[in-house]
Amino acid sequence: MHGNTYRLFRKRAFYVAVAATLFLVAALNYISAGSERHLVPNEVHAGDEAAAAAEPVYISVSSTMGGLGNRMWEYASMYGLALTNNMTPAIERDSFLTDQFAQLTAVRLEASEISAFKQVYFDHCCKYYGSLCNLVRANTTVGSFLQSYKYFNAHADVVRRQFVFDRRTRAAAARLGDVVFVGTDDPLVDMCALSDCDHVIMTVGTFGWWAGFLSGGDVIYFAQPTWPGSMYDNELIVEDYYRPEWIGME
Ligand SMILES: *[C@@H]1O[C@H](CO)[C@@H](O)[C@H](O)[C@H]1NC(C)=O
Repeated sequence: MHGNTYRLFRKRAFYVAVAATLFLVAALNYISAGSERHLVPNEVHAGDEAAAAAEPVYISVSSTMGGLGNRMWEYASMYGLALTNNMTPAIERDSFLTDQFAQLTAVRLEASEISAFKQVYFDHCCKYYGSLCNLVRANTTVGSFLQSYKYFNAHADVVRRQFVFDRRTRAAAARLGDVVFVGTDDPLVDMCALSDCDHVIMTVGTFGWWAGFLSGGDVIYFAQPTWPGSMYDNELIVEDYYRPEWIGME
């Protein structure tokens, strides 16, 4: 072979070898990508769902600025509705309730974040609104009052476990001993003492309701808690308000 032709041949052979190698690498990549491609649709799908799950949809509650019982009710109902609607319960970071109960498991958010949520609001305090169990998937604030046990009945234990009194309160309640009537100047201590009772006889107020609920014992309420025809009478739907196992006293 002529010297020049031979060099040209070697050059070509080199380029062909490089091209073949590149082709082989590309082909191997393609094949291995191909075997992964079968998994890709599922993975992308799972990824989308994970991303959707990762973007939280919160539910929070608009506070009535009421007393301890009212606040507990708002939290409990909000929490129950969160579980029912598969949303994430959220509460204002620095709030009356987070100060009282460190064990609340709702996510802490800033007030400014919560105030941007969509508002779903109902008029009557003590009535069960079934439509709240089918909320549109958007950050939502529900309110107010929500005073029906039905909002969290299926999750009553989850709710009860969160209202844990701190050591100071429990010590103060223990000092009261066996009390028949409670009335210190600290509602938290009173409720803690009552929740240790075997039996609670309650008035219509939310405070007694929660003492009864936390006690887990027999609860007796006045079956005609409001004056017939009064404003409060329209507000309070007895079968939505009192738990069915509690005893109504005529
Ligand atoms: C809900 O609000 C949080 C906090 O502001 C935000 O990060 C999140 O993206 C919101 N989710 C939706 C579905 O809008």
